[in-house]
Amino acid sequence: MGSKVQENALPRILVVDDDQKNVELMEAYLSPDYEMIPAYRGKEALEILEKEEIDLVLLDVMMPDMKGYEVCVKLKENENTQFIPIIIVSALSRRKDRIQGLEAGADEFLTKPIDQIELKTRVKSLLRLKELYDKNIAEKDLAKKYLETADVMLTVIDPDHKLKLINKKGCKIIGCEEVDFIGTDFFKTLIPERFREKEISDFDTFISGKVDGLDNFESPLLRPDGEERIINWHNTLLKDKDGKITGMLSSGEDITEKKRAEEALAKAEETHEKEIHHRIKNNLQIIASLLDLEASNFTDPRVIDAFEESRNRVHSISIAHEELYRSRDMTNVAFRDYVNDVTNYLYQMNDLQGKDIELSMDVEDILLNVDKAIHLGLILNELIVNSFKYAFPEGKGNISIAFHKKEEQFTFIVADDGIGIPKGIEIGKTNTLGMQLVNELVDQIGGNVHLNRSNGTEITITFKDR
Ligand SMILES: Nc1ncnc2c1ncn2[C@@H]1O[C@H](COP(=O)(O)OP(=O)(O)OP(=O)(O)O)[C@@H](O)[C@H]1O
Ligand SMILES: [Mg+2]
Repeated sequence: MGSKVQENALPRILVVDDDQKNVELMEAYLSPDYEMIPAYRGKEALEILEKEEIDLVLLDVMMPDMKGYEVCVKLKENENTQFIPIIIVSALSRRKDRIQGLEAGADEFLTKPIDQIELKTRVKSLLRLKELYDKNIAEKDLAKKYLETADVMLTVIDPDHKLKLINKKGCKIIGCEEVDFIGTDFFKTLIPERFREKEISDFDTFISGKVDGLDNFESPLLRPDGEERIINWHNTLLKDKDGKITGMLSSGEDITEKKRAEEALAKAEETHEKEIHHRIKNNLQIIASLLDLEASNFTDPRVIDAFEESRNRVHSISIAHEELYRSRDMTNVAFRDYVNDVTNYLYQMNDLQGKDIELSMDVEDILLNVDKAIHLGLILNELIVNSFKYAFPEGKGNISIAFHKKEEQFTFIVADDGIGIPKGIEIGKTNTLGMQLVNELVDQIGGNVHLNRSNGTEITITFKDR
C-alpha cells in the first residue's frame, strides 16, 4: 500500500537521525504544519514505514546500524514505499556524497546545518508532487476499474482507424482477447463489409472535428466467428491538452437481443391483427349468409331485393378485411385489388343473364387507409347495383370506374352511359336508402359528391388524404 495524503489530516513526516538533537531541531522547524514521527536507527525507520502511512522521509546518512543510503535503496526497492519522497539530510557536503545519495534514489539532498526556509520549501514542493502523483494514480485506478467493470463496450479508435483500447465487455461481445485486436484496423476487422465504406466516411468526418455529433446510432459489429451483433453507439472525441484530436472514445451497448425481441413482438402483433381481420371477415360472411337465409322466407320480390342489397353491403365490407388479412400492411388496403374484388362479387351476385354490361376500370394502384376504402367500397356497391338495376332497360351498356390521386386530392368516379337518373332525384334528397347512404358515406370521409347527368350517370366523389 502506498501512503496517501489524507484529507484534513496533517502530512506525516518520518525524521530518521541517530542524534536526538537533530530530530528535535527538525521538529521545531516543521511543526505544527506536519505530524513528525521520529526514528533513531535505520532499521527502526524501515519498520515504521512498513506499518504506517508516511508521506515524506527526512533521512540522516551516518547512523550506527545502517547508512542512510542503504535505507534509501531499500525504500525505493519496495513497491509499497517506492514513491515516498526522501530528503537526505547530511553533514557530508562533498559532491561525491550528493551523487551517492541521489543515486540511492533520494529526491533531495540537504546539507547540515539546515536552513529552515530551504527545508520547508523542499518539503512542501515534494509533498505537493506526491499529492499530485497519488491523485493521478487514484484516477488511473478508477478509470481502469471502470473499464473493467463497465457493462458497456468501450473502445478508443485513433484517427488512423486503429483500435487503441477495448475493455473487457467489448472483448466479451466480440468473443476475443484484448490482445487479438489492439492495433488492428477497427473497420477492416470489426465492421461488416457492406457497412464499412459508409462508417469509415462518417468516422473520418467526425474525427476531423467538422461535425458536432456521431451519436446514438446502431450498427452491426462483426465477430471473428462471423456472427453479427447490433450495437448502439455513443461517441466522443478525445483531445490532448493543445486541443488536437487524438481519437474517438465510444461506448456501445449490445442491443441484439433487445432488437430480436422487438422484431418477434412486432411479428406476433401482426399475426394477431391478421387473425382479427380474418375473424371479422368470417363473421361478416356469416351475417351475409344469414341475410340470404332470411330472404328465403319471403316471396315479395321487394323484400327479397332489400335483403340482397344488405347482403351485398355486408359482403363488400368483408372483402376489405380479406384484403387486410392478405396484405402485410394492417392499416392500408391495395385499393385497385379491393375495387376489383368488390365489382367481381357484384357481377356474380346480380342476375345479369341475357345482359351485356361492359366494365372498364382505370384505378390507380395506391394504398388507401382501410376506413376510407370500406366507405368507398360501400359507395361503389350502391352505385354499381343502381347501374345494373336502372341504367340499362335494354340490357346493354358500359360502366366505368376511375380512381386517381393528384397532390393530396383523391377522385373517385363511377359512371354509366345508361338512361340517367330521372330529373328531380338528387343525391341526398331522396328518401330511398341507396342515395342517402352514398351521401352519408361521402360526408363521413369529409368528401364532396357531384352528379353529372350529361351522358348517363356520372358520380364524382372527391376527398382529401387525411
Ligand atoms: N345509374 C342510374 N341510372 C338510372 N337511374 C338511377 C340510377 N341510379 C339511381 N337511379 C334512380 O334513382 C333512384 C334512387 O336510387 P337509390 O339507390 O337511392 O334507391 P333504390 O336503388 O331505389 O333503393 P335502394 O338503393 O335503397 O335499394 C332509383 O330508384 C332510380 O330510379
Ligand atoms: Mg339503389
